[in-house]
Amino acid sequence: METKLRPVDTTSIWRKKPLAAYEADVKKSELKRVLTRWSLTSLGIGAVIGGGVFVLTGIAANEWAGPALALAFVMAGVACAFAALCYAEFASILPVEGSAYAYSYGTVGEIFAWLIGWNLILEYMMGATTVAVSWSGYFEKLLHLLGINPPIWLMNDPVTAQEKAQTLRAAGESIPDFTFAVNLPAFLIVWVVTYVLVKGIKEAASTNNAIVILKVAPVIFVIIAGSFFVDVANWTPFIPNPVMDAGGQQHYGFNGIVTAAGIVFFAYIGFDAVSTQAGEAINPKKDVPFAIIASLIICTVLYILVSLVLTGMVKYDALDLKAPVAQAFADQGLTWAVYLITIAAIAGLTSVMLVMMLGQTRIFLGMAKDGLLPKNLFASIHPTFKTPWKSTILVGAIVSIVAALTPIDKVSELCSSGTLLAFAMICGAVWLLRVREPGLERPYRTPALPVVATLGILANLYLMYNLRTDTKISFLVWCTLGIIVYFLYSRKHSHLNNPEE
Ligand code: ALA
Repeated sequence: METKLRPVDTTSIWRKKPLAAYEADVKKSELKRVLTRWSLTSLGIGAVIGGGVFVLTGIAANEWAGPALALAFVMAGVACAFAALCYAEFASILPVEGSAYAYSYGTVGEIFAWLIGWNLILEYMMGATTVAVSWSGYFEKLLHLLGINPPIWLMNDPVTAQEKAQTLRAAGESIPDFTFAVNLPAFLIVWVVTYVLVKGIKEAASTNNAIVILKVAPVIFVIIAGSFFVDVANWTPFIPNPVMDAGGQQHYGFNGIVTAAGIVFFAYIGFDAVSTQAGEAINPKKDVPFAIIASLIICTVLYILVSLVLTGMVKYDALDLKAPVAQAFADQGLTWAVYLITIAAIAGLTSVMLVMMLGQTRIFLGMAKDGLLPKNLFASIHPTFKTPWKSTILVGAIVSIVAALTPIDKVSELCSSGTLLAFAMICGAVWLLRVREPGLERPYRTPALPVVATLGILANLYLMYNLRTDTKISFLVWCTLGIIVYFLYSRKHSHLNNPEE
C-alpha cells in the first residue's frame, strides 16, 4: 500500500483506522491462511444457494411474478451485482477479515463503519436464524417421507405451533392441547454447525466444499431433468396481467415482479461472506474479488435456469408454496427425485448456516480487535483450534434460541433490510473513496464506478423501500439501538482513542 490516507481529527466520529494498523493486523493475525480462490468461491456459493431457491421461488412465482420469476431473479441479481463489483474493489484495497465493516473503517470513518457492522449482524445472524428454521421445515418433510410424524410442539416455535394446531383442528384432526413448543431440529442443527466452526476453519472449509458439491449437483439435476418436463404453454402469459388484492397491493405485472425481486433477494444474500474470510485467504487481494464475482455469476445463472424450468414444469398458480422444487417433481411421479431434492435442500441449508455464522464471528472479531466490541469475548482465539471460539459459541447460542422460539417470516425480511442498506452504503463508500483518495493502490478497480455505484445505491434502496412497513419500523429501531451502543460503549473503547498503541 503505497499511498497513505489523509489524517482526520482523532476525536471525530468520522475518524479512520490508519492503513498501517491494517498491515499490523494482517501480520499479527493468528488465523491460518488456508483458503484458495476456488475454496473462497465455494464458500460464496455455500453461503448463497439455500432457502431462497428451494423455498421462496414458489411464493414469488405463484403470488407475485408468474413465469416472470426469472426476471425477478435478474432484477435482484443486478442489484447484488452492483454491490458485488463495489465490494470487490473494497476487498482488494484492504484484504482483512471483517468485510464491509473493516473496509469502511479504514476509508470512510468510524460511525459509518459501525453502522455497516451493526447491519451486517442482521444479515448474518438473522440470515442464519431464518435458514435454521427453513432447514427444520425440510427436515420435517424428510421425516414425513420416511413415515415419521413428530408432534407439532417439537418441530415449531410456540406461535407457529399453535397456529398449525388450530388449522389442523379446524380440518377435523384431533391435536392434543400443549402449552410449550420448541423448534428442536432448528435448535440442534445450529449447535452442530457451531461445533464444526469451533473446531476450525480448515475443517469448516472442507466440510463446506463437500456440501457445496452435494447441493449444486441437484440444482443442475433440476435444470437438466426438469427441462424434459417443460411445457412451453406454461410460460404464456410470461407476465400475467396485474391483479389488485384487498390491501391495494399489486400482484403480477411490473410491480409484481419488483415485489418478487425483493422476496428472492434473500436468495442472493451471502455472496459477500467471501469478503469476511480474507484473513484466512492465501492471496486475498486477487482471490477475494474473484470469488465474490464468480460466486454471484454462478448462482445468478443457476437461479434463472431453475426459475424457467420450474415455471415451465408447473403452471405458476399451481406452484407449491413450501417446497416448490420438490413438489414439481412429485407432480411428475418422480418420487426418487423428491428424496434427492429434499436431501439436497437440507445439505444446502446447512452450508448456508455454516458460512453465515462463520462470517458473523469474523465480523465480530474485526470489530473487537478495533475496540468497538469487548475483546475478551469477541476476539479470544482458541489456542489449539485457532478459532474465535467464545464468540462462535455466543453466536450459536443466540441463533439457536431465536430459531427455536421465533416465527420466522419477519426475521427474513429484517435480514434483507439490513443487507440492502449495507449494500447501498458500500456502493457509496467505494465511490467516495475514489474521489477522496484517487491515488490509493487498487489491485481491482470497479468498472464505470460512478454509474455502477449510483445504480447500486438506487437499486438497493428501491428494493428496501418496497419492503413491508412493519419491517421498516423494526429496522429503524435496530439502527437506533446501534447508535446508542456506539455512543455508550464503542466510541469510548475504540483503539483510535489511543492511536499510538
Ligand atoms: N441466500 C441464502 C439462502 O437463500 C441466504 O438461503
